[in-house]
Amino acid sequence: MRAVYRLEKKVALITGAAQGLGAAIASRFAEEGAVVFLGDLNAEAGSNTVEAIKSNGGKAFFLTLNVTNEQSWIDAFATIEKEAGRLDILVNNAGINIREPIEEMKAENFDTMLGVNVKGPFLGTKHVIPLLRKGGGGSIINMSSVCGLVGHRYTTEAYTVTKGAVTLLTKTIAVRYAKDNIRCNSLHPSTVETDLVAERLKDPQFRSERLGEVPLGRLATAADVANAALFLASDEAAFINGVAFPVDGGTTAD
Ligand SMILES: NC(=O)c1ccc[n+]([C@@H]2O[C@H](COP(=O)([O-])OP(=O)(O)OC[C@H]3O[C@@H](n4cnc5c(N)ncnc54)[C@H](O)[C@@H]3O)[C@@H](O)[C@H]2O)c1
Repeated sequence: MRAVYRLEKKVALITGAAQGLGAAIASRFAEEGAVVFLGDLNAEAGSNTVEAIKSNGGKAFFLTLNVTNEQSWIDAFATIEKEAGRLDILVNNAGINIREPIEEMKAENFDTMLGVNVKGPFLGTKHVIPLLRKGGGGSIINMSSVCGLVGHRYTTEAYTVTKGAVTLLTKTIAVRYAKDNIRCNSLHPSTVETDLVAERLKDPQFRSERLGEVPLGRLATAADVANAALFLASDEAAFINGVAFPVDGGTTAD
């Protein structure tokens, strides 16, 4: 039987892809035939991730990108257009969390979080639309969180503010640009089992708090999130638009 690649002939930009969920998404997309551009501030880790994708047979490029800087986006899209001639998928994944509760949070730290988590996807979307339109449409995937759907007692207020903003940015873009065949959806993972989290799970309180909120009884994996992103990026999701897609084992259904 002929192998079917779910992102054959597609070109994707994934932000914050040097490590973590962005790297997992970029690798998964490349496995499914996409040419992937990895945008990140961290050139060293980003280049290592690109090499890992290439050694697995994928086509990948690193781009230095600061999502808070408009010119950086303009330069990144110009490079992609020059190198690949088109773009079909943007994953606005880069995000940060300065873990200070509201009563302790410095105003400048709040601004920093808004800059990366909200202004980043806003500027990326602003500048990707003409490029997607030129190619006849595309898919924008914004990385939110369960914290962009419900209040969350273990997370900071600033984080929920930024992730909630991403949820509604997504829906607005989805309805406005559907006429251009541009789909826009958001992903809402619960806590993902990264190395850092695995270490913190040794703390019995952290373990029971985090596992206790997931009906499926385990944490998300980077592969769970990458597979959900793959579906939203692919033509299998051609009629999925404006959806806030939880990857949370039932957490927000509870
Ligand atoms: N890890 C989780 O449990 C979890 C759960 C839900 C949602 N999320 C969201 O998923 C996304 C990725 O999370 P992660 O855990 O992989 O994070 P991470 O910290 O491992 O990786 C984030 C990446 O973003 C990059 N980055 C930071 N600021 C940037 C900027 N200004 N411009 C470009 N790149 C920048 C970093 O260099 C890094 O490579 C974030 O938006 C996060 O809020 C994570």
